[in-house]
Amino acid sequence: MNANLQNKHTDFYGRDFLVTKDTLIPRPETEQIIDTVLSLAGKPFLPGVKAPKPKLPPGFSLLDVGTGSGCIAITIKKELPLAKVTASDISEKALKVALENADNLKADITFIHSDLLQNTPKSYDVIVANLPYVDKTWDWLDLKALSAEPSLALFAKDHGLALIKSLIDQIADNPPKYFILEADPCQHTAIASYAKQKHLRITATRGFILTIQR
Ligand SMILES: C[S@@+](CC[C@H](N)C(=O)[O-])C[C@H]1O[C@@H](n2cnc3c(N)ncnc32)[C@H](O)[C@@H]1O
Repeated sequence: MNANLQNKHTDFYGRDFLVTKDTLIPRPETEQIIDTVLSLAGKPFLPGVKAPKPKLPPGFSLLDVGTGSGCIAITIKKELPLAKVTASDISEKALKVALENADNLKADITFIHSDLLQNTPKSYDVIVANLPYVDKTWDWLDLKALSAEPSLALFAKDHGLALIKSLIDQIADNPPKYFILEADPCQHTAIASYAKQKHLRITATRGFILTIQR
């Protein structure tokens, strides 16, 4: 983790983000969500490197569920300015921080206060989510190292899978073209079998990131 709680700013995908006691400190593994979306949008990673074939239209719609500091939603909007980006969180305090980051970085994002998809429109081309997935009983967990961050941003019941499963339940009837989520690699098999029960399929895994398709 390269975050610095003292000055309350951290780097994410080359940009500076404000973080407070009400937000998770963005982690480097979450940057893989950005790489996945850029690849689906056909954006070349480096100048001179052949661009991947786009699988999304330029003005695709995207929802970031559990936006925290706004790092995922804002980065996608900055990298892909034509994308229509919405970001939601259950924490009003986190949303205030995300709004401040969007203002600072001049990113035009729609923010919605919502418990998962309760208050959001139901149809998006892409949903991305880095929801809380830490299981408090993991024996490798250093709880002290996480003590400065909100529990609401870190922990989930049911072996860390409660919120991810609820979100899968909520998208199952009208799934987005791509659902990209972060979870610990030790949880990927359980998520894949849950998604399969809902007639969704995991089409890629990359580090901590899973891509689910309808
Ligand atoms: C792991 S943090 C991720 C923050 C940010 N997306 C990132 O990657 O750094 C999870 C976020 O989900 C939010 N959250 C927790 N439960 C939620 C729920 N039921 N609905 C929406 N957001 C929720 C938390 O407030 C927190 O901001």
